[in-house]
Amino acid sequence: VCDVRPDRQSAETELAARIAAQLRLRPDLVLGLATGNSMIGVYRALVGMHRKDGLSFAKATSFNLDEYCGLPVGHPASFAAYMREHFFAHVDMPPGSAHLPDENGCADFEAAIAKTGIDLQILGIGRNGHIGFNEPGAPVTSRTRVVELAAATRAANERDFPAGEAVPTHAVTMGIATILSARTILLLATGAAKAEALAGALEGPVTPQNPASFLRLHADVTVICDRDAARLLS
Ligand code: F6R
Repeated sequence: VCDVRPDRQSAETELAARIAAQLRLRPDLVLGLATGNSMIGVYRALVGMHRKDGLSFAKATSFNLDEYCGLPVGHPASFAAYMREHFFAHVDMPPGSAHLPDENGCADFEAAIAKTGIDLQILGIGRNGHIGFNEPGAPVTSRTRVVELAAATRAANERDFPAGEAVPTHAVTMGIATILSARTILLLATGAAKAEALAGALEGPVTPQNPASFLRLHADVTVICDRDAARLLS
């Protein structure tokens, strides 16, 4: 299912509204969370609903998709810092309920997910079709592990690092199989830079060369995108 919205902001608001609706139905929702530019507006909208409408995360649990390897704790470009800045610092989710993957604890992270399952996984998409940090070539059977980042991904994410500081070469990420184990998946794609990856994922072959194409193996995936990202869809 693909829900095309007129612009980026309405796509972000739509994703936030769907997360909120699920959370109201099930306050103890287990969320799979993503970072990146695309999600900033989504977290802003969720924080707004928390403040204005009393949307509560007190009973929710979360698992983040990925994290860089080798960054010092508190590094501003780490996904841990991103999550604190954009979301965790502003809502009522107990710190112990938020799980972030750790390069030294992949098996423990998978075991924690296996215990509860993920009810709702949110995803962005890379320009090369990556989901989480599952770059082209990632096997459909993959689980949480350390991976090497594609050169294109490191180039795209340079914007998050201080000038002159290299983007890490490796990251820890949930695998494709981990992502596909979620009950419901919502993918957000905004901007023309995502059009090619999105068209490949939805209309090209299901192939490790476009990891997002594996989402077609799942029965409950909704893509929310803006017109720019939908540009190459037939
Ligand atoms: C982030 C993640 C990545 C991003 C993707 C898009 O946790 O897993 O797959 O969703 O790289 O990033 P942006 O939104 O910055 O274009």
